[in-house]
Amino acid sequence: MSKTLKCIPMAMLLLIVFVLAACSSDKNTSSDGEQKSSSDSSSSGTTTASVDLDLPKITFKLAHITPTDHMWHKASEKFNEELKARSGGKMQVEIYPASQLGTEADMVQQVEAGSIDFALITGAYLSARTPEMAAWFAPYAFDSLQDAYNTSQSDIGKEVLSKVEGTGLKGLDYLFAGQRVMILKNKEVKQASDLSGLKMRVTPSPPLTAFYKSTGAAPEALPLPEVYSAIQTGVIDGMDMDLDATITNKYSEVAKYAAVTNHMVWPSVIITNEKSFDGLSKDAQQIIIDSLKVASLYAVENRAAQEEDFKSQLTSQGMEVFDLDASVFKSQIEAFDAEYSAQSELIKRFIETVRK
Ligand code: BEZ
Repeated sequence: MSKTLKCIPMAMLLLIVFVLAACSSDKNTSSDGEQKSSSDSSSSGTTTASVDLDLPKITFKLAHITPTDHMWHKASEKFNEELKARSGGKMQVEIYPASQLGTEADMVQQVEAGSIDFALITGAYLSARTPEMAAWFAPYAFDSLQDAYNTSQSDIGKEVLSKVEGTGLKGLDYLFAGQRVMILKNKEVKQASDLSGLKMRVTPSPPLTAFYKSTGAAPEALPLPEVYSAIQTGVIDGMDMDLDATITNKYSEVAKYAAVTNHMVWPSVIITNEKSFDGLSKDAQQIIIDSLKVASLYAVENRAAQEEDFKSQLTSQGMEVFDLDASVFKSQIEAFDAEYSAQSELIKRFIETVRK
């Protein structure tokens, strides 16, 4: 050690080291004092995490029922990516796909108990406990997925979301999959009367059951994991489904026809435990909400681009794929609007708003 250095007291040395370290960290600090996250990704326009945000270090649990190649899983991964980036790596989610944590009913219970932090629950399932959710299933109410997404972010969409409460649940946002189609084992359906007497699987949900009853079909309420074997063994003749789940669950192996009706949109609701969510800091809550918003928009934009590809995949797997439009179900649309507008003032306003 040199003579000069020996003369500098230890406290002074520490001070010099501290000042040098502070100078070098300034390179990562913007003029407004915000520190750039190491995972900054400007393409999503998101990811600056401020050092003075009040954030816990936490790994949340998120569960859903779809396979890992379904858009809901990809959107869940996008949510995780955003969460990590916006919190500077402090917050993230562990994702449990494909009903690993049980059915929708099981997941709702686990969110209520606080053992899962987030779950994607179909609007259809929720309509049995939150009747206002039925508004989303007004047939042919939206021109496109983007149109449905815009409604989900509007006052009327948020008002419906706010009804997903009770036993400690809170609905944070919507996440859409593709619109609904009809998959048939043996029978080509070209008009509503072709459905007469057919055992058509629906997600357990009053508005879906009502719609199929109005066509003359015999709706059978079955959760998603039971559908493959039900159609394979002839327990059902067909199903209400989306193209995404038709592909990811390989229904082309057991069904011949895909009528691309696009008769209803298919929102899930991202639910959380109200008490746990309220217990998080405002900063953490805002990051979760903003990250979900990015994931929800990601799902809609990417899903819309997959429509034609999904149809040709099913054709190449041997299915007969054809389009059916709203004119086929004119009287069913009128019947739905009349029945559900009479059930709730909010549903009536929703239908009036979206059909304008
Ligand atoms: C269904 O029950 O049909 C379903 C549920 C979640 C995603 C896709 C389809």
